[in-house]
Amino acid sequence: MTETALQGAPTRNTKLLAWVQEMVDLCKPDKVHWCDGSQEEYDQLCGDLVKGGTFIKLNEAKRPNSYYCRSDPRDVARVEGRTYICSVNKNEAGPTNNWRDPMEMRETLVSLFDGCMRGRTMYIIPFSMGPLGSHISHIGVEISDSAYVAVNMRIMTRMGQGALDVLGDDGHFVPCLHSVGQPLQPGQKDVPWPCNPENTYIVHFPEERQIWSFGSGYGGNALLGKKCFALRIASVMARDEGWLAEHMLIVGVEDPHGEKTYVGAAFPSACGKTNFAMLVPPKGFEGWKIWTVGDDIAWIKPGGDGKLYAINPESGFFGVAPGTSDDTNPNAMLSMTKNSIFTNVALTDDGDVWWEGMTKEKPAHLIDWKGNDWTPASTTPAAHPNARFTAPAGQCPTIDPEWENPKGVPIAAFLFGGRMSQNMPLVYQAFNWSHGVYSAATMGSEATAAAEGQAAMRRDPMAMLPFCGYNMADYFTHWLNVGRKIPNPPRIFRVNWFRKDENGKFMWPGFGQNMRVLKWIVDRVHGRSFAVESPIGWMPRHEDLPWDGMEFAPDTFYQLMTVDRDAGTLEAHAHEELFDRFFDRLPKEFVYERELLRSRLWRSPQIWELARER
Ligand code: GTP
Ligand code: SPV
Ligand code: MN
Repeated sequence: MTETALQGAPTRNTKLLAWVQEMVDLCKPDKVHWCDGSQEEYDQLCGDLVKGGTFIKLNEAKRPNSYYCRSDPRDVARVEGRTYICSVNKNEAGPTNNWRDPMEMRETLVSLFDGCMRGRTMYIIPFSMGPLGSHISHIGVEISDSAYVAVNMRIMTRMGQGALDVLGDDGHFVPCLHSVGQPLQPGQKDVPWPCNPENTYIVHFPEERQIWSFGSGYGGNALLGKKCFALRIASVMARDEGWLAEHMLIVGVEDPHGEKTYVGAAFPSACGKTNFAMLVPPKGFEGWKIWTVGDDIAWIKPGGDGKLYAINPESGFFGVAPGTSDDTNPNAMLSMTKNSIFTNVALTDDGDVWWEGMTKEKPAHLIDWKGNDWTPASTTPAAHPNARFTAPAGQCPTIDPEWENPKGVPIAAFLFGGRMSQNMPLVYQAFNWSHGVYSAATMGSEATAAAEGQAAMRRDPMAMLPFCGYNMADYFTHWLNVGRKIPNPPRIFRVNWFRKDENGKFMWPGFGQNMRVLKWIVDRVHGRSFAVESPIGWMPRHEDLPWDGMEFAPDTFYQLMTVDRDAGTLEAHAHEELFDRFFDRLPKEFVYERELLRSRLWRSPQIWELARER
């Protein structure tokens, strides 16, 4: 075994070869497979997954070259409670991360990984996050005993020989070790979705820039290029090197004259990044185009010209399926017509996929995500709420022609938005960079709690709460510094599509209609749209947003925009709860920003009333 691991290895990178040898000795797989990323290899692995019962090939006529997969019902989402940041010093991880002593954690992991790949194949998966060879990109190598991970990584990243070629003989890579944590005894039959939920650990060593993930095969737990590398480890690299790794979509907004403006938008998980990234301009916006660069993660580096340039480090979408339809997101639907993988959705009788919200009419019969018969009379959902599609980004009809430009695209504005049913207006613009960073850092979002109408809000600074690999107070300082070092930083906006009326109904239609807000934002960036000053920021009046093709009464609009003084003051007070957790690491600016906010609120009449009278 020891011989064959490195025999014929498609690289001479000494660090990589040494690491692979070390991991082979630790995990003791039966076989080692170096992934080359070819179509033949992909087809072969998918074929193996079909034979093993993990994949079902979908109807070739309906969804060419696509596969259906059901996970173990105990392994269906990221597990934040078992995600760890193991910096040497606990304060480096900060109060919002689970911290463990790196030495102790390493001991735990070494004993878990010892022999964990017995009876299995170890896949060596080299990948580039970002276009091959871009100066913004970085190389990772995932070692995994899951062929499901290997094929998903081929869609989600630039995977295979190309990444090894960029790495070269002495290039640097982030080692990402992954096991489903279920070794096989000789002769033992495998299950379709091996995992080890009792012993799941998603572990990051920020100082060594290493990832060790054990026990889960699902999404961000297992596709280590995504949250583990591109956000948690990359955020640390970004802090040290002066750039940003963010939980952001990137879109290009093209006006009818062909002028294109790029914006990055951070919304927490399941708050509509994929929808916004593929937005279809509504009636009244003829000639406007929205171009998709990315739907989940942005790496942003300062260019020599003082602008910030962003790339999408991924090459695929790992999107939430339920709720996605030809109405809500036609471009996502078109992205997954072929060459895609569907996990935990439902299977139709003609070998295609279905999920809640896909069609108005429910199919008469399905096999649900647990493998049981399902009819519209069933009381459980056919698809798991976190069921996902994996689709190549290049298949998106609105993919930006510049999406693989190694230079990245210049970012003119940052948007931040959570899910807030009350007291948060549709949109406002921050007064300046530090006020914007403050607004983004104090962002809240409501978790859709099991109990109807019960919305528990948690602070989710920059939508990065589960993804920042270091102390978030230092992360705030880093953000402040990034803006300080460039002459004209992007404008910062807060948005909220999720405000509800007293009957619990969304007040704003959202989806394509968000274009109206986006146009105002782009025009603000170019100094072309009007706003009034309110205590919380610059806000549009009804007449400042474009309403062509849509009726939206001024009164409803003002309801949507109003924050009353008492609620605003309570909110400003509540920021202290977040800030207190960071003690003296909190940037000084934030203390002053909060005082300024409070005094603006204190002196004003009801926020919107003031603006409206102008
Ligand atoms: P991750 O992939 O988990 O990071 O999340 P994401 O931000 O890409 O979330 P996703 O697009 O899957 O979020 C989908 C949810 O947001 C669904 O419940 C949609 O109905 C809802 N959603 C998206 N856009 C809007 C909108 O404009 N208004 C409203 N009310 N809901 C929206
Ligand atoms: C998220 O949870 O924000 C995701 C899905 O994008 S996962 O990749 O599983 O983290
Ligand atoms: Mn995400």
